[in-house]
Amino acid sequence: MSTAHPLGIDVGGSGIKGAPVDLEAGDFAQKRLRIATPEVSTPEAVCDVIAQVVDHFDEVRSDSPIGVTIPGVVQHGVVKTAANIDKSWIGCEIEKLLEDRLQHDVVVVNDADAAGVGELNYGAAKGHDGLVIVTTLGTGIGTAIFNEGVLVPNSELGHIEIDGRDAEPSTASSAKTREDLTYPQWAERLQRYYRALEDLMWPDLFVVGGGVSKDADEFLPLLDIRTPIVPAQLRNKAGIIGAAVLATASQQRHGKHTG
Ligand code: BGC
Repeated sequence: MSTAHPLGIDVGGSGIKGAPVDLEAGDFAQKRLRIATPEVSTPEAVCDVIAQVVDHFDEVRSDSPIGVTIPGVVQHGVVKTAANIDKSWIGCEIEKLLEDRLQHDVVVVNDADAAGVGELNYGAAKGHDGLVIVTTLGTGIGTAIFNEGVLVPNSELGHIEIDGRDAEPSTASSAKTREDLTYPQWAERLQRYYRALEDLMWPDLFVVGGGVSKDADEFLPLLDIRTPIVPAQLRNKAGIIGAAVLATASQQRHGKHTG
């Protein structure tokens, strides 16, 4: 296949998933590949798996943009936080590591930012110009802020303090699973969280993503907040699609410097 689709790769706690993305359609151009995340998920071990994902897609050419998501703050290609991943990621120059390994330009971004970009371009936030906050509820809470369609990267609003404590450990969907909470019990925590967030940020729209968003009917109607709140639409495709969009935009801005 000789089409030059950008490749998106989503690094998660249990799987590393990638697919070429058709930017016209806002969907995968080929079936995605998923490889289990290595048990000890150091940057080197994860880079090995990312290389396997890249090798799998024979349409990746020397100038195809490659975007990779990481569940932590990524500033200028360097990982700065690791709330739910191996601490050896902190300080890792992941973009350089991957570029050396793959001999290819790579853009590395925060996972929630990528998912948000997917939703903004093709999903639940499409066409919304005001202040939009996309939240992903999973092992952690990821957030992406957009104002007039422009991403404010690395927002980390999953870690706002409620009652003097980081909101994430008690509010992420992993807390629901760990503590075996019913949807109404969990919704009480979500309500406090989204109220705190709307009081600080005054968004026009919340989008709720993450695996649990497929059950949004069970908990979103229970939330009494003033901001419209809707489920994400791209489900587990959002991160891969958003990473491909961001890598393409970066290539258009900076041109390529390898390949
Ligand atoms: C991290 C974020 C990430 C989110 C979702 C949080 O613990 O701090 O960077 O986006 O989890 O993976």
